[in-house]
Amino acid sequence: MVGKPGRRVTVFGAGYIGLVTGACLAELGHRVVVRDINADRIQLLRGGGVPIHEPGLGELITKNKERLSFTLDLREALDGAEVVYVCVDTPPSASGDADLSRVWTVVDSLTGAAHLRAVVMKSTVPVGTGTRVRAVLDGAGLAHLGYASNPEFTAEGKAVHDFLHPDRVVVGTSDETTAQLMRELHEGVDGPVVVMDVKSAEMVKLASNALLATKISFINEIATLCENTGADVEEVARAVGLDHRLGSHFLRAGIGWGGSCFPKDSEALRQLANNTGYHLQLLSAVIEVNNLQKRRAIQKLAEALGTLAGARVVLLGLTFKPGTDDMRESPSTVLASRLLAEGAQVHCWDPLARPGDVQPWASTIRHPTPLEALEGADAAIVVTEWPQLKEVDWARAAAAMRRPVLFDGRNLLDPQAMRALGFTYMSVGRP
Ligand code: UDX
Repeated sequence: MVGKPGRRVTVFGAGYIGLVTGACLAELGHRVVVRDINADRIQLLRGGGVPIHEPGLGELITKNKERLSFTLDLREALDGAEVVYVCVDTPPSASGDADLSRVWTVVDSLTGAAHLRAVVMKSTVPVGTGTRVRAVLDGAGLAHLGYASNPEFTAEGKAVHDFLHPDRVVVGTSDETTAQLMRELHEGVDGPVVVMDVKSAEMVKLASNALLATKISFINEIATLCENTGADVEEVARAVGLDHRLGSHFLRAGIGWGGSCFPKDSEALRQLANNTGYHLQLLSAVIEVNNLQKRRAIQKLAEALGTLAGARVVLLGLTFKPGTDDMRESPSTVLASRLLAEGAQVHCWDPLARPGDVQPWASTIRHPTPLEALEGADAAIVVTEWPQLKEVDWARAAAAMRRPVLFDGRNLLDPQAMRALGFTYMSVGRP
């Protein structure tokens, strides 16, 4: 994309964030090596495969293959590198704090890489991590290295677009040389680079995700109140969202938020506050509302069916949102576990998810099409708003089900039309 030769960048981690970051930096003209410790993943990438489903990513990797390579080898990864991006995962630890062990492994491996100019932290980390990384780098004789916190705000399913056309690129650093290097690395990106101190940048990521999760839990609570009063949450959200001070995004009521970021980051922020002796009351309620939202769906089905014991219940959609194969913290996992615990048989359909044979999925039956899954079922739950579900022949589905009971957890279908087809139809916050 840029005319001049780019920087030599090493990305640690070939997951969602690392691959998108690597491919997009290559697209911007930089020479990128992505390093991972998973041999299968690297082999697949070297053979032209893409281990995750992310629209546009495969094309971008192919288009930029001259400037993008993949390796398991640490020495090869760091050879000639000027900038290191840390894109490893930071899963919750037993205490609920983020587990930074993978981050430390990367930082420790940088000793001796004298030609490096900067380390960029893209992994989501607790506020204060930058200060600790700085101390480790200084102690390892790498005081000349710049450090930047550069949180990602990409949403799965549109990660490539979000990287190249962001609302903002947040850069937290204490020195102008690194700030300038980051501006240079992002030349060609269609969005402003906002520079601030490291701790504030670390906080922006956690605060942004917590506020988005808050909007969803808020509208989900209003949806419950709509059900109790006869109002329609879709109408309410539409009009509330027209107030430019509030905005229309993240006001879709549903079965609750999931994914790789919101659950993990909201819990990490809560624990971060707890560690400072402060209890984030609002955020705790936001998390609680989200947990309840999934359980309420099961409760509604139990009421409609009389009992869930022995009932055949279908989960339509398993991923935490459409357009991805990601099932991390998906509401479907909680629903499947709860249904099995109540003695139901769980059948499911999803166009992309590969749940594997771990529980609860090992005890479920998967089908290639929604109609096949619905055959003989006592009830179904729309968990993910896959567009394919709009195209289902619902008249045939009603005839094929033993009892046509449907809980539409994403308000995807038209209540009147579904009831006209004979469904006992329930949704979220709609009369
Ligand atoms: C999110 C943030 O958007 C992104 O900036 C951050 O970097 C990572 O977390 P992602 O997890 O990919 O991205 O998905 P997103 O589209 O934001 O949806 C998150 C969850 O909220 C999904 O489960 C979705 O179904 C749910 N959601 C979203 C709602 O229930 N209602 C809404 O109005 C919006």
